This record gives sequence, structure tokens and C-alpha cells, in this order.
Amino acid sequence: MAQTPLAPIQSLYVHVPFCAHKCAYCAFYSEASSGELINRYVEALVHELEMVGLDLKPRTVFFGGGTPSLLNLRQWERILCAMERLGLLGAEEWTVECNPATVSLDKARLLRSYGVNRISMGVQSLNEDLLERLGRIHSREMVFKSFDTLRKAGFSNLNLDLMFAIPGQTLEIWRETLGEALAMASEHLSSYEVIYEEDTALYQQLQAGLFAVNEELACDMYEQLVECAEAAGLHQYEVANFARDTTSNPQTSILNVPFYACQHNLNYWRGGSFFGLGPSATSYVRGVRTKNWSNTQMYCEQLEKGQRPIESTEELAPLVRAGETAAFGLRIVAGWPFEQFRQATGHDLRREWKNEMTLLQQRGWGRIVPHGFQLTREGLRFADAAAELFLR
Ligand SMILES: C[S@@+](CC[C@H](N)C(=O)[O-])C[C@H]1O[C@@H](n2cnc3c(N)ncnc32)[C@H](O)[C@@H]1O
Ligand code: SF4
Repeated sequence: MAQTPLAPIQSLYVHVPFCAHKCAYCAFYSEASSGELINRYVEALVHELEMVGLDLKPRTVFFGGGTPSLLNLRQWERILCAMERLGLLGAEEWTVECNPATVSLDKARLLRSYGVNRISMGVQSLNEDLLERLGRIHSREMVFKSFDTLRKAGFSNLNLDLMFAIPGQTLEIWRETLGEALAMASEHLSSYEVIYEEDTALYQQLQAGLFAVNEELACDMYEQLVECAEAAGLHQYEVANFARDTTSNPQTSILNVPFYACQHNLNYWRGGSFFGLGPSATSYVRGVRTKNWSNTQMYCEQLEKGQRPIESTEELAPLVRAGETAAFGLRIVAGWPFEQFRQATGHDLRREWKNEMTLLQQRGWGRIVPHGFQLTREGLRFADAAAELFLR
């Protein structure tokens, strides 16, 4: 008897490992590079898309980095035409990350014409001194200009990334940046507290005692963020993510998140499968996690030899996988509905993680709601520590 074919994977991430200049805080895999290596990467990526294309029917696509907007028109055309040929266009949500310094009307129009319908722009701050301190290559004016360019090209779903607790950032400066960013009226806002990643310039400065971390100030900034975003009509649906709501999106209403919530990231947080292509990208396909080489040369060499550029493969035990899924999903403000968790993982939160849920309730970090468990506002502030309890 013929086997039932497996349903294709609905989520695609593509990593673009190039930046014009490395920011002081950033540990994402990316490098400043020559046009030649970028061309070689584009060809390799097309090969990789061809290798997985038959098992893909993307509902969400996310080009991240690095700086995808650094690719020129010709390089983008090559990728987009390949995706068209492979039947990979037509995603409900298709995001491309952009740096304000590398947005142009031509590029934005090209992306829009192939079905990209969401742009995520790295802003970080609107204070010139802090932008310089962070090693950003754009001015505040470029942020406003690029935002207008994206609107002009027809994008009606825009995200801005901001960072807080930046060394030298006062509460006053943070309020100003927040106010100005919210006045731009994007549909989505992501705002992260600075993480001091090893091997970054900022980490070295911290180690050298050039500044100190002020945890109390960071808490005040987070409070401001949540308050101001809500007041501006952006609803918090995840620890660091806020979106506008226009109700009646059948996809998001089931999950109890706002209309403009990022569908691609919701799939990650709910433990769904996805293909990750490009150097350093991770895939999670039907319970198996693979990771590509974090080396663009090696990535290209493998694909030029006709091989998948995979460095490691890991098949997680079902309980380990369920623990990770619990931990990720608790970052969503609505938490985990018990039944949805059971359907996603085959495990029952109430049985397997009873003690952890009790502990979080006692700390004031978690609460039982009808049919599910969620973190409190205090718990969301310490979501990483709370989520760690669920790992097996
Ligand atoms: C991969 S970057 C993509 C945006 C684009 N490359 C740019 O920077 O304009 C994604 C976001 O992660 C955040 N990020 C990166 N490193 C971080 C760190 N060490 N701490 C906090 N947020 C960080 C920044 O807000 C950044 O915009
Ligand atoms: S924050 Fe963005 S632009 Fe800066 S180094 Fe990281 S990926 Fe590149």
C-alpha cells in the first residue's frame, strides 16, 4: 500500500550572513564582506532552496541576518526568481530584515512585487550618541527616511527593533526614543534589553569596567516600554514583542494574540517545524534539529559539491522536546492552553510540570488561568529564568 505523503513544512527562515559593519553588541553570525563572496553565497542558497523546495509550502518566510537588505537588486532578483521557479512564493507573511542605511525604493518595490509583505527594521535607538556607541552605520534621520520609503513602496506591515539598557542610555533618553518610535505608527515593535554576548566589543568594555550594569534602571525601562506601547495601541503579546490589533484574523484569534503579531515567530514559540537555510541557520523538521555550518566559505563549498551544508543533527527525546516547547511558549503573554500544549507535544503540562507551575505561582511569576498557564507581568520580566525550569 502506498504511504501517505508527509505534509510539507510551512515555515522558512533564510539567514543572510553579511553586514556593512559589525555592531558593538551583536553576536549573530555575520561578517563585512566583498561582493564576490556575496555572489557565491547567493548561488549556494539557490542550491539549498532547490534541495528542500519539494518539502516546503511556506505559509511564513523570514529573511534575517545579518542584513538581508545589503544584497543588491541583482542578487535579490536571483533569489526571488529561484523561489518563483520552485513554487515558494505566496506566503501569508513574508518578512525581510532591513538596516535603515541599506533601504532603497527600488529594492523595496522589488521585494514587494514578489510578495514580501512585512519589513523588520533595526533601529535600536534614535539618539545619535547611542547609535554611534553601538556602532550603527545609520543616523536617526535615515530611520525616518527609510520608514517613509517602505511605506511608499506599499508596505503596510512594518516592525521596528529597539534596544534598552544601553550603556549611557538614561530613562529620559529611552522615553524620547520610545515616544518618537511609537509616533511612527508601525504595526509592530520588538524591544530587547541589551544582552552582553561574549566576543562582542560591548562585552569587552563591560569586562574592562568601562561601565556597570544597572538592573534597576533596566526594570524601569521595561515598565516604560510596556506602558507606552500599550498607550500607543501596540499590545504586548510576547516578552519583547508588541503589535497592533484589528481583530478578526482567524489565525491569530485562536492564539489570542493581536492581528499584526509575527506569525513566523509564533510558529517558533509554539514549537512548530521550520526549515532554516543559509550559514549558521537551524532547522527543526519533524522532531529533528539540524544546524548549518557557521562559516560562509564552508557553507558554499558543501553546496557546490552537491551536499547539504549541515554541521550537526540532533533528534530530541519527546520529553526534552516538550520541555523546550513549554519554555518557548511561556514567552507568549497568553501562555500555554493545556489542551493546545498536549496536542502539540503529546505531554500534559499539569502532570509533567506540576511542581514548576506551583513554584512559579508561589514566586508570583505564574498563574493558572481557565484552561491554561501563563506568566504574570513580573514573570515575563524574568521569562528566561522562569522558562529554564521547564527544560528536561
Ligand atoms: C539580526 S538583527 C537584524 C536587524 C538588522 N541586521 C539591523 O541591525 O539593522 C535583529 C535584532 O536583534 C537585536 N539584537 C541583536 N543583538 C542584540 C543584543 N546583544 N542584545 C539585545 N538585542 C540584540 C537588535 O534589536 C536587532 O535589530
Ligand atoms: S545588529 Fe544587525 S547590522 Fe548590526 S551586526 Fe547584528 S545583524 Fe549586523
